Amino acid sequence: MCAAASTTDQEQQFLTAVQQAIATNQFERLVLSQYQGERVDLEKISMRRIELQNRPIIQCVFKYKTQDVTQNFEPDQAIIEIELLLSQSKQANLFSTLHEVQLKKTKKKVLLTQHKIQSSSVQASKTSHDREKNRLLDQNSPYLQHLGICDAQAQLIPSMARKWKQINKFVEIFSNALSQIPSSDHALKVVDFGSGKGYLTFALYDYLLKQQQTPSVTGVELNDQMVQFCQKVAEKSEFSQLEFFQGDVRSYQPEHLDVMIALHACDIATDFAIHTGIRLNASVIMCAPCCHKELRPQMQSPVLLQPMLQFGIHAGQQAEMLTDTIRALLLKAYGYESKVFEFVALEHTSKNKMILATKRREFTEPDPLVLEQIKALKQHYGIKKHSLELLLSDQWEQHDLGKKC
Ligand SMILES: C[S@@+](CC[C@H](N)C(=O)[O-])C[C@H]1O[C@@H](n2cnc3c(N)ncnc32)[C@H](O)[C@@H]1O
Repeated sequence: MCAAASTTDQEQQFLTAVQQAIATNQFERLVLSQYQGERVDLEKISMRRIELQNRPIIQCVFKYKTQDVTQNFEPDQAIIEIELLLSQSKQANLFSTLHEVQLKKTKKKVLLTQHKIQSSSVQASKTSHDREKNRLLDQNSPYLQHLGICDAQAQLIPSMARKWKQINKFVEIFSNALSQIPSSDHALKVVDFGSGKGYLTFALYDYLLKQQQTPSVTGVELNDQMVQFCQKVAEKSEFSQLEFFQGDVRSYQPEHLDVMIALHACDIATDFAIHTGIRLNASVIMCAPCCHKELRPQMQSPVLLQPMLQFGIHAGQQAEMLTDTIRALLLKAYGYESKVFEFVALEHTSKNKMILATKRREFTEPDPLVLEQIKALKQHYGIKKHSLELLLSDQWEQHDLGKKC
């Protein structure tokens, strides 16, 4: 199909094609180029459909001359945004699973062209679509073979399927959190505390590179063999700004930090990592705590809860919930907006709780109301010591002493 008519008609037809593609899950990609609107240095906008917490989201990358800015939209919001951007761009290309539609504005006319995708390429696209499931990570990236997640044909090794799912989910959450913080002109500094075999550390680095960000990523890990293994894979993958540090999370003190990650760092290693994040004013703090050992031995059952907590499993779950509630509240008290949620469906892993915190306010002093809530919870359960609380209050005392001297 090829036609020339008024701009509004052609744009409307193009927009309808976009709406239909999104509504029928056939939307793959939309590229708006030769932007002419008011956003200074914006050159191109590219959008694709992803899934975040099992919801379809349109992820939009605004490509400026010197940086990329990623923003996620609910499908309805995306249509409104696309309508505006379409009126400000000279060219738009829609790629759905069935069609490619192009809108091109020249001085004299507006052209709308549409091609059906050949059935073989539909099939190819469908297969790759199924394989990728709109994931943010590319299965063809060589580091996945070096890490033993994919084979030489870039096919997922079956025993790694759960890990792969978890990594993808995690990168989705990371990408969403990143889109909520102001972009900066320096290399994004990410530290992964308790990086283990580095699955996530590599995935984050690769993801940031593909977003044309300049990442500087460090994995911190106690186990020397894992560190050596990861260093070798980083070299083979030519990831020059990815490094691994052998040492204890408790003593690793970077000078600067934008994103703090601690995924399944054992027990109070999570508290030390969160503390480093807060102390260095990280914009994003993400952790999936595990091995909650600190509060369980201290916990006394309140009388009313004794019939419930007499069962060991319930007492364990309660201790875990209390540990992570106090962590999330402390983040809130120290200037973060914190969320606690399940990040991978339970059938994929039992360690599936995420605490995600984004810096929200200029911090002057810990919020006394939230500190009161923590105190009341601790009293209720007879808790004397929570590591993150202790680290933060020590730090705050030092800060106060510093001011008095
Ligand atoms: C369960 S693994 C998780 C690895 C990785 N984050 C992931 O999710 O795939 C926990 C890792 O944290 C490391 N670890 C535990 N305590 C640590 C500490 N205090 N300092 C540094 N690494 C630590 C362990 O050696 C282990 O490799």
